[in-house]
Amino acid sequence: MSGLHLQPIPAAERDSLAWWIDHAPLAHIHVGWLNPARWVGRPVSLQLADSHGRTHAALVTAPDGLGVAWVQAFACGKGQAPQVAWPTLWDAARRALIELGVRRVWAMTSEPSFADILRAADFQQSSEVVMLTYFGERVDAPAALPAITLRHMQAADLPAVLALDNLAFTPPWQMDREALETTFNASAVSALAVSQAEAIGYVLATQSQGRLHLARLATAPGWQRKGIGRALTLHLLQQAGRRAAGRLTVNTQIENSASLKLYHALGFRGGGRSVVVYSLNLEHSSPAAHA
Ligand SMILES: CC(C)(COP(=O)(O)OP(=O)(O)OC[C@H]1O[C@@H](n2cnc3c(N)ncnc32)[C@H](O)[C@@H]1OP(=O)(O)O)[C@@H](O)C(=O)NCCC(=O)NCCS
Repeated sequence: MSGLHLQPIPAAERDSLAWWIDHAPLAHIHVGWLNPARWVGRPVSLQLADSHGRTHAALVTAPDGLGVAWVQAFACGKGQAPQVAWPTLWDAARRALIELGVRRVWAMTSEPSFADILRAADFQQSSEVVMLTYFGERVDAPAALPAITLRHMQAADLPAVLALDNLAFTPPWQMDREALETTFNASAVSALAVSQAEAIGYVLATQSQGRLHLARLATAPGWQRKGIGRALTLHLLQQAGRRAAGRLTVNTQIENSASLKLYHALGFRGGGRSVVVYSLNLEHSSPAAHA
């Protein structure tokens, strides 16, 4: 690409580059409750800059603490064609990710133009995330579960919750320590299910613009199908009612039939646009697959 050179985004430029990405005329930003800025400036985040150091395009796909890499951001400045910028950035990112030991990269989008770029780079559709909204009216109190108590989560619970979260979810949906801490700190409602001092399930919900979002729900594998997920969700719904949250939403994958059954039974309904999840196995990816 004439006049532009490829370089890593230095950690020291994290804030200015995160701002640039946020304000770029064309940007794909990963959908999630964590600010994508946290990945800017970490390996692997790259930019195409001119000789004056001005950024023209950027790609951020830094792996988390579990080695899972999402395309967190891809942005192009004015006049920079994404189909031209992507191959250069992606080729370098792909190589760097392989060197870091990353085997699969994930991306989530509802934008057809970015989906075209991903498909041209050999990304395959692997799932779909749907948003459900609570439309129920009456919230039953959670049924008492023998020898299981629900209480607020505290910072001291995080190591145990992280362990159960990582057992309950499969890649790429597990959270690393940093993501869990950030979500916990941002949560408006939390509850932990405990049996004999063992953390066996938890729920976290964040709140923004008067709306509660069920950010996380998990029951430890050995404790599933005993009513804990339902009890935690009902607890949250009661809290939502008290807070007059207006709306309560949750995202889940279309193949996650356990969570879909649970949410539907409680009065959540789908609607709106779903977000497609793409992934690419780096071991079989070829640098020739370009947009
Ligand atoms: C989804 C999840 C939290 C449910 O927790 P749980 O404690 O097992 O749920 P409950 O025992 O309260 O089940 C409530 C209802 O959900 C449905 N359900 C739960 N697990 C199910 C499964 N494996 N298959 C089919 N339906 C299921 C059933 O309708 C069930 O009612 P029933 O047992 O009376 O038939 C649990 O499966 C889990 O942690 N999964 C991995 C993490 C995850 O996907 N979290 C949700 C992300 S949005």
